[in-house]
Amino acid sequence: MRVLLVGGGGREHALARALARDPEVTELHAVPGNPGIAALATLHGGDVLDGTAVSDLAGRLGADLVVVGPEAPLVAGVADAVRSKGIACFGPGAEAARIEGSKAFAKEIMAAAGVPTALARICDTADEVEEALDAYGPPYVVKDDALAAGKGVVVTRDRDVAVAHAMACRRVVIEEFLDGPEVSLFAVCDGVSVVPMLPAQDFKRLRDGDDGPNTGGMGAYAPLEWLSAGFVEEVVDVVLRPCVDELRRRGSPFIGLLYAGLALGEQGVRVIEFNARFGDPETQPLLELLETPLAGVLLAAAKGRLDRAEPLRWRSGAAVAVVMAADGYPQAPRKDDTVHGLADAEALDEVVVLQAGTALSDDGEIVTAGGRVLAVTATGVSVAEARERAYAGVGCISFDGARWRTDIAGGSADAGQ
Ligand code: AMP
Ligand code: GLY
Repeated sequence: MRVLLVGGGGREHALARALARDPEVTELHAVPGNPGIAALATLHGGDVLDGTAVSDLAGRLGADLVVVGPEAPLVAGVADAVRSKGIACFGPGAEAARIEGSKAFAKEIMAAAGVPTALARICDTADEVEEALDAYGPPYVVKDDALAAGKGVVVTRDRDVAVAHAMACRRVVIEEFLDGPEVSLFAVCDGVSVVPMLPAQDFKRLRDGDDGPNTGGMGAYAPLEWLSAGFVEEVVDVVLRPCVDELRRRGSPFIGLLYAGLALGEQGVRVIEFNARFGDPETQPLLELLETPLAGVLLAAAKGRLDRAEPLRWRSGAAVAVVMAADGYPQAPRKDDTVHGLADAEALDEVVVLQAGTALSDDGEIVTAGGRVLAVTATGVSVAEARERAYAGVGCISFDGARWRTDIAGGSADAGQ
C-alpha cells in the first residue's frame, strides 16, 4: 500500500512511525513532513491547504490512501478533493470538519444529537458578550468561533480579560464553566461505524500545576487507569455515535478521526470540544501503544469497511509524551536554536523523540522552527515507568530557551485540567 501523509507536526511524526511499521505499507510519502518524518517517508513540497495540489500529488504517487493530519487542510476541503479523484482518504470533508472548524456548528450538532455539553451563547456584539458573561458568571469561558490552533480559548475569573479576548475575535462562543478532570477520547470513524481508541489525557496549560496560558498541549499520557469501567462505551453511546449519526443524516458523513474533549464533572461526562483529527500530543503516546497495523485501520475507515475490521489491539503498559517547547511559546516562539542530544535520548530504552517544530539548517543540524519543538515519548509497564523514561530522554536534549513541564502524568486525575 502506498500512503501519502499530509502534515508536518508531532502528530504526523507519530502517525508516520505507526504507518511505517505496518507491513502492508510499501511506500510512505509526506507533504511537507519534517526532519523527523524524513527518516521514515519521502518528503514532498507543496501547499497542504490546496486540495488540487494534494490530490494531484496523490495521483502522481499512485497513493492507495491519503491521511490528512492537521485541521486546516481538512477545513479547507483537502479530503473532498482527494476523494473526488477516487483516492481513498482518511479525514473528514470540509462540511463534517466544521465540527472542529466552528465552535458554533459543533454546538448545533450536539444540540441536534442530544449530546451533553456546556450551555453556550454565540456572541457577535459587545452587548451580547456582556449579557453572556452575566448569565454564566465566573470563571468565564470565551472561545474564538474560528480555528485558532488550540489557542483561541480563554478561561479566566478576570472579567476584563474575558471581554478583551471577546473583542479581539470576530465572533465568540461564551459558555458555562465545566468542572472536573479532562479526558480525550479518539474514535476512528467511517461515516457509520465508530471504533474508539484508548482514553488519553492532555496537559493544556503552559506551566507546572496547570498554570499559565492554554497551549496546544504540553504533554500527554495513556491509558487512564483511574477511569471507571464502561467509560469508553458510555462515551461512544452518549457522545460519539450520536454525532456521527447526526453528521451522516445531514449528508456529510464523518470519515476520519473524531476527537472528543470531555470534562468529567459531578453531572457526568460533558463535551468541551470536538476536533476532526488526531490530537497533538495525545497521538504520540497512543500510537506507541497501538499494536494493530495502523494503515489497515485507516484504509478500512476511508473505504467504509470498519464494521469488518478487527477491534484495535493495544500493548499492555503505558506511554507518556513530554513536549519540549521554545522560549516564547505560545505567543512568539523563538527559532533557529540548535537542538542537541536527540540521538542520546533515542538510545535510551523505549524512548522515541517525535519532532514537531524542527527544521534542518544549511549545515545539516536540527534547529528549532516552531513553538512545540518535539515530544519525548516513552513506553513502560506502568505510567510511572514510562514517565521516568520520558523525563530521562528530556534530560538528554537541550536547545537554548527550551521549556517543558515537569509534572506530566505525575499526579492525580485532575492534573490535566
Ligand atoms: P478547547 O479549545 O475548546 O478544547 O478549549 C481549550 C481548553 O480550555 C480545554 O481543554 C479546557 O481546559 C478549557 N475549556 C474549554 N471550555 C471549557 C469549559 N466550558 N469549562 C472549563 N474549561 C474549558
Ligand atoms: N491536544 C489538543 C489538541 O490536539 O487539540
